[in-house]
Amino acid sequence: MVTRVATVAFQGIEAVPVDVQVQVAPGLPKFLLVGLPDKAVKESSERVHAALYASGLSLPPRRITVNLAPADLPKEGSHYDLPIALGLMAAIGAIPSDALSRHLALGELGLDGRLAPTAGVLPAAIAAAARELGIICAADSGPEAAWAGDEIDIIAPESLLALCNHLGGFQLCSRPVARRRVEIAGLPDLSEVRGQEVARRALEVAAAGGHNLLLIGPPGAGKSMLASRLPSILPPLDPRELLDVSMIQSIAGELAGGALSDRRPFRAPHHSASMAALVGGGLRVRPGEVSLAHNGVLFLDELPEFAPGVLDSLRQPLESGETVIARANARVTFPARFQLIAAMNPCKCGLAGTPGHTCRRGDACAADYQARVSGPFLDRIDLRVDVPAVSAADMIGPADSESSATVAGRVGQARELQRQRYAEAGEPRIFTNAAAGPTLIEKVVNPDKESQALLLQAAERFRLSARAYHRVLKVARTLADLAGVERVARPHIAEALSYRVGFAGA
Ligand SMILES: Nc1ncnc2c1ncn2[C@@H]1O[C@H](COP(=O)(O)OP(=O)(O)OP(=O)(O)O)[C@@H](O)[C@H]1O
Ligand SMILES: [Mg+2]
Repeated sequence: MVTRVATVAFQGIEAVPVDVQVQVAPGLPKFLLVGLPDKAVKESSERVHAALYASGLSLPPRRITVNLAPADLPKEGSHYDLPIALGLMAAIGAIPSDALSRHLALGELGLDGRLAPTAGVLPAAIAAAARELGIICAADSGPEAAWAGDEIDIIAPESLLALCNHLGGFQLCSRPVARRRVEIAGLPDLSEVRGQEVARRALEVAAAGGHNLLLIGPPGAGKSMLASRLPSILPPLDPRELLDVSMIQSIAGELAGGALSDRRPFRAPHHSASMAALVGGGLRVRPGEVSLAHNGVLFLDELPEFAPGVLDSLRQPLESGETVIARANARVTFPARFQLIAAMNPCKCGLAGTPGHTCRRGDACAADYQARVSGPFLDRIDLRVDVPAVSAADMIGPADSESSATVAGRVGQARELQRQRYAEAGEPRIFTNAAAGPTLIEKVVNPDKESQALLLQAAERFRLSARAYHRVLKVARTLADLAGVERVARPHIAEALSYRVGFAGA
């Protein structure tokens, strides 16, 4: 007889059904695990044996075959321990097998029979709910599974023994409740930044429309300081965005304690990051920083210090909002609609363009340094602003800058206008101007005669690409939204153009 337990394999953030089939047959004692298991899955037989022994169960001296179907789909990860153990327990009659037909199981086993949390419980629970199944997972993963809905049955025991008791009806495990992460540490506030009015305005515009921003200036001007204050002016995640973001965090094993947070992700990888770390991949395909920044911010500090090839690998996700990782045996897609914030010095010595300063290497200093960032990459950045050194008068004078709460209020209103506009246009999944497609943005901007003339003039003079043209329209739309104006007018277009063509590195 064959016992079956449902589980999943992960492809991107999709949970693909996998059937664990267990057969205990007469023959020489042997344990066979088939169905393209990777090393972690192969080793599960040792953990399962030890965990069953620790729970007072021993396997019969027979030929045991475990098949992970479909057999041609590669299986990765340690979450197959629990379904394999459950299949064996049902095969030897330790638990009723009908209990398993209504649940999907995933979890890692310790040698003492304890269940350890694994990555991907949230997408697995959502997949289980779609198939009208319940889910069995580790106690620590329970709160994460509970986000899949109130209807889904969740069994989240501490150990195999507790699970046996639950299935046997001796001692029931209580249903876990969905938890929200309480963010204890407050975010740094914009009021601490002195001066830098232009950069502050650009930061507000970037936050309001989800635009990409590049800050360029000498050392110590406050570029990193400004960028790290962006999360404090961004609105919280919408419930639909929250689930998307959490699914990626779940797959990456980054949902601490199974609790979800509505704070927008802010990822700041170091410039030594590899291509796989940034766009995803590796031996076990994992979401990269761009996917972990989905619906949030990817901050690249010291932009030219990143390997040029690594930067160019961001070109595709910046345009399409997703990354496609192709490997010999799989093709995986992860969502990656992030907002890029970058900071850089104008040259290696950092002071090019500063009045009274001459670089030792002359003009080549700035040219060589800036050439590390390719033109097509730069073309995807909507707002490029100079951040000059902050003046002594600004530093010594009273701190009277606006607080993050005030700016966040304006950003929130502008975002609400955008959400309503795109919902009315039949695009409820688009929340910002930056995410709108070219046809849609042309429809919602509808520039007047004066603005069109200005756009034409600028496009010819600065040789704007078609992409740049649409991106200028998007920024202009955000500027009008920030001002609470229905129609985009010439001043909005002029300001949007100044952010694209006005900086020293252009
Ligand atoms: N505009 C400012 N207002 C207040 N403090 C500032 C400002 N600019 C810089 N500082 C101070 O200088 C420190 C360094 O600033 P920051 O790291 O943001 O500089 P940066 O522009 O990123 O420099 P680098 O190019 O070297 O990375 C800050 O932690 C802060 O104490
Ligand atoms: Mg810095």
